[in-house]
Amino acid sequence: MNLRVAILISGGGSNMVTLVDSMTGDHPARPCLVLSNNADAGGLAKAAARGIPTAVVDHRPFKGDRAAFEAELLAELDKAQPDIICLAGFMRVLTGDFVQRFEGQMLNIHPSLLPKYKGLHTHARAIEAGDAEHGCTVHLVTAALDDGPILGQARVAIEPGDTPDTLAARVLEQEHLLYPRVLLDFSRQTSGNANMPPA
Ligand code: GRF
Repeated sequence: MNLRVAILISGGGSNMVTLVDSMTGDHPARPCLVLSNNADAGGLAKAAARGIPTAVVDHRPFKGDRAAFEAELLAELDKAQPDIICLAGFMRVLTGDFVQRFEGQMLNIHPSLLPKYKGLHTHARAIEAGDAEHGCTVHLVTAALDDGPILGQARVAIEPGDTPDTLAARVLEQEHLLYPRVLLDFSRQTSGNANMPPA
């Protein structure tokens, strides 16, 4: 039996696409749902084109009532019965209650070398700080924002003349390699196949 993976997105969904496309063959997981808080998220059409069920829970009608918004998210997730949840550019902060419900099952990708630069504008902050390198991190989600045990990182050199956009583009390339790799490892561990050779 394959593990079921739900992927939460807010935007273009390029990370979601790399995750979905990676779950083939003897991968122990398969996508079961792409869920967005934004009906205009470009990723929804990409998921649908791949035959993945999609759902939208618009956060706006809930006007700051996070618990009510999350109850609707939970209703969608309960229908899909995921074993693993991947946040992939999901731009809503989740409450401790929601996170605890999926403790040890929820992964996130963040565009910085955590613990550096939690939150937004990570590329600009790394350039402004004069850092020599930057990158991305996949971590388990805990109640604290962009915190939680690190499952994998990829590094990118910051070049002279880099802007937040040029740096973000190179980091995104690494995100697309890192997230599927970490999901594969995590899925193998979750399904008890940790002894299989790495891909
Ligand atoms: C990625 O850089 C991700 O790390 C960040 O938001 C971006 C999402 O891009 N949290 P996409 O929607 O996966 O294309």
